[in-house]
Amino acid sequence: MQIDPHTLTPEATYRLLSGLVVPRPIAWISTLSPTGVVNLAPFSCFTFVSNKPPLLGVNVGRKAGRRKDTAAHIHSRGEYVVHIGDASQLNAIHESSEEHPEDVSEAELLGLATLPGETVAVPRLRDAPVAMECRLSQVIPFGETGAEFIVGEVTRFHLRDGLMNDGKVETMALDPVCRIGGPNYATLGRIVTLRRMQQTEKSVV
Ligand SMILES: Cc1cc2nc3c(=O)[nH]c(=O)nc-3n(C[C@H](O)[C@H](O)[C@H](O)COP(=O)(O)O)c2cc1C
Repeated sequence: MQIDPHTLTPEATYRLLSGLVVPRPIAWISTLSPTGVVNLAPFSCFTFVSNKPPLLGVNVGRKAGRRKDTAAHIHSRGEYVVHIGDASQLNAIHESSEEHPEDVSEAELLGLATLPGETVAVPRLRDAPVAMECRLSQVIPFGETGAEFIVGEVTRFHLRDGLMNDGKVETMALDPVCRIGGPNYATLGRIVTLRRMQQTEKSVV
């Protein structure tokens, strides 16, 4: 089968890409509205783009041409928190994607406790195994639908006790979830360990 991308609507292209680029990790992002309401939503067009400084990138689309609350709050405050949720939080991750007016807190609605940020004014989720406080670094618009690739520098990592062993993250203990197509998710399957490859040391220019 071949598909000419020019024949596809934006929705059809989204369905295709989100089914093909899998599995995707999920950035569970808290932001603060102008009136101080804690907003929470999941974003799976997510990766890291630099290790020094640590930079995370997430692609946020628009709703009927308007910025989503998450993007609008990041633009106005320049701060947010990216969480990695675990399998026990999957339902809350999914439910937090429901659209609500800006003055409704998804965190409160879902009964998720928060803690104050250390380096940002935005609260973080108490029970997420990982929370990364971020300061906005760059916004890069892409394509014809107004999507923005939002890049933020991590100003503090919070990891639940027991997640790090010998400088490495215990992935099984983290128990992350990922998104595949539509409202479908996957958890970690079998882990396969191969021989370690010799790699040239990462340099700082
Ligand atoms: C698992 C999951 C991943 C999602 N990933 C993205 C994404 O990468 N980009 C995006 O714009 N929307 C994504 N969404 C949709 C947003 O979560 C949804 O539009 C949400 O209502 C945005 O909330 P906000 O207006 O409070 O920012 C995703 C939804 C789910 C359930």
